[in-house]
Amino acid sequence: MTSKTILRALAGETQAVPPAWLMRQAGRYLPEYKATRAQAGDFLSLCYTPDLAAEVTLQPIRRFGFDAAILFADILLVPQALGADLWFVTGEGPRLSTIDGQADFDALKPVGAIHDTLSPVYETVKILSRELPSDTTLIGFAGAPWTVATYMIAGRGTPDQAPAHALRTGNPALFDALMDRITEATIEYLSAQVEAGAEVVKLFDSWAGSLPADAFETYAIAPARRIITALKDRHPGLPVIAFPREAGPAYEGFAKATGADCVALDNSVDAAWAVAHVQKDGCVQGNLDPKLMVTGGQQLIDEAKRIKAAFSGGPHIFNLGHGITPDADPENVNVLLEAIRS
Ligand code: CP3
Repeated sequence: MTSKTILRALAGETQAVPPAWLMRQAGRYLPEYKATRAQAGDFLSLCYTPDLAAEVTLQPIRRFGFDAAILFADILLVPQALGADLWFVTGEGPRLSTIDGQADFDALKPVGAIHDTLSPVYETVKILSRELPSDTTLIGFAGAPWTVATYMIAGRGTPDQAPAHALRTGNPALFDALMDRITEATIEYLSAQVEAGAEVVKLFDSWAGSLPADAFETYAIAPARRIITALKDRHPGLPVIAFPREAGPAYEGFAKATGADCVALDNSVDAAWAVAHVQKDGCVQGNLDPKLMVTGGQQLIDEAKRIKAAFSGGPHIFNLGHGITPDADPENVNVLLEAIRS
């Protein structure tokens, strides 16, 4: 049996102390991240400079001793590799060229071309698999097709994903062609990460919760199933974490329907409900409110212990319900880890 606690949880083992890592654990709440990012010049240069991307991935491991490291990259590198223009506006977020009609889709590159852009990411994975401590699991990741499509269509983050919904209902043939292209690119991208040394992969479907019930099967479940099936065919035994954020009742059955080994829960999900309806099928990850990493104090300790206790009867990976924010206090990470490890 492996000494890697994350792999043990993903294999279905119940552990007295759940292994822990945090979404966005490499990020702007850490002064050392800001220093390396400044050295890189900008966020995308950081993503595409393997030595620096590996360095920021390792920073939270050195500082806190998390059980997993997540590759430093971004879900929007795939659209860029497919030919979309991508840039980040400081303080606002990502901007991309939009997909408004057939001509924009026809201008995208074929799936086989993505490695030209993404090969530095695989180099980062190789460095990390050499340099990580032997008990730290390396997680690779990609965005799920629906979430990636929402950014490609709108050209930016949107509160309600309205442009993507409009294309989905107004021009389903074009929308489905885009979803297919992203799905196939995601399979090739994640497969290359695994070949470079990623031990687990995670699919981030940050906007899954905006899909109406009658579209959830087609655009959240089916693409995840296709990606997971293809990856497990090529890499037997590869563990996969799926994060259909804000899926609500649709969290139930998601692991079985997609083949995921673990479902990550956002912080709107009630733990008692999740134990009965999600953890019954296997490992769950989550789901502390990221705001507590800002406010800290006894409330952070109590909530961490409550979540640990709630999921203690089955396989559990401790995490937040969404990414840690730039205003979080790094000292609260130590408080959190002490609360769940003591
Ligand atoms: O530490 C980690 O979790 C690994 C790296 C990682 C990043 N983005 C780095 C990043 C991961 C796993 C992601 C995933 C990601 N990226 C998602 C899915 C998860 C989620 O948060 O819902 C999404 C939707 C994106 C797209 C994206 N990237 C947005 C909307 C933004 C701007 C918002 C923000 O937080 O600034 C980014 C930028 C981004 N990606 C940063 C980081 C560390 C901040 C960039 C900076 O340093 O200025």
